[in-house]
Amino acid sequence: MNSFEFNKIAAAVLIALLAAMLASLLGDALVSPSKLAKDSYVIDISSISTSSDTSEKEKPLTPIGPLLAKADPAEGAKIFKKCLSCHTIGKGEPHKVGPNLWGIVMNKMAHEEDFSYSSAMKSKDGHWDYESLNHFLHKPREFVPGTKMTFIGLPNDQERADVIAFLRQHSDNPAPLP
Ligand code: HEC
Repeated sequence: MNSFEFNKIAAAVLIALLAAMLASLLGDALVSPSKLAKDSYVIDISSISTSSDTSEKEKPLTPIGPLLAKADPAEGAKIFKKCLSCHTIGKGEPHKVGPNLWGIVMNKMAHEEDFSYSSAMKSKDGHWDYESLNHFLHKPREFVPGTKMTFIGLPNDQERADVIAFLRQHSDNPAPLP
């Protein structure tokens, strides 16, 4: 390669660089990018509530008393089929995954001596009155956090009343209705 050839290449490279620089300068001069004073599209997140939002309080559970007055134990027997996989209800019947439930209404919590309850259930000292049964059967794991009863619960108010009316009948001397 002679020096003339080399100069030609060097000049070409230089010109290319210059042209690029000029284009960039010119571009900036023509279009001056500036930040918008306001977002052109505003996303309002204040209305989106998160699950941990405490403002969204759950409504209190309907009192069971008035519902029990019109409860149907025969309907309760049908609903109790959901419980039968884990509980027996007849007097003296053996425990299953859950304890036998004969005479459970007004009985003390964790009432069967020979059933191994969860420590959560054992440490509950109270009685299965209508309102505690109402709460427990609504959401077992909310009423007794850590319970072994993996049943999801009965969200329907009248279904709970019916099944409690059914439980009440299965006792040596059924407790008076509230
Ligand atoms: C998947 C099995 C399962 C199902 C279904 C189930 N239970 Fe239970 N239940 C248990 C277990 C296990 C326990 C003991 C809980 C503990 O020790 O924490 C229990 C405890 C109870 C207790 C407290 C008993 C006591 O001696 O204190 C009641 C009342 C009860 N269940 C009612 C019901 C009713 C009513 C239904 C149907 C609507 C039902 N359960 C469905 C497994 C179940």
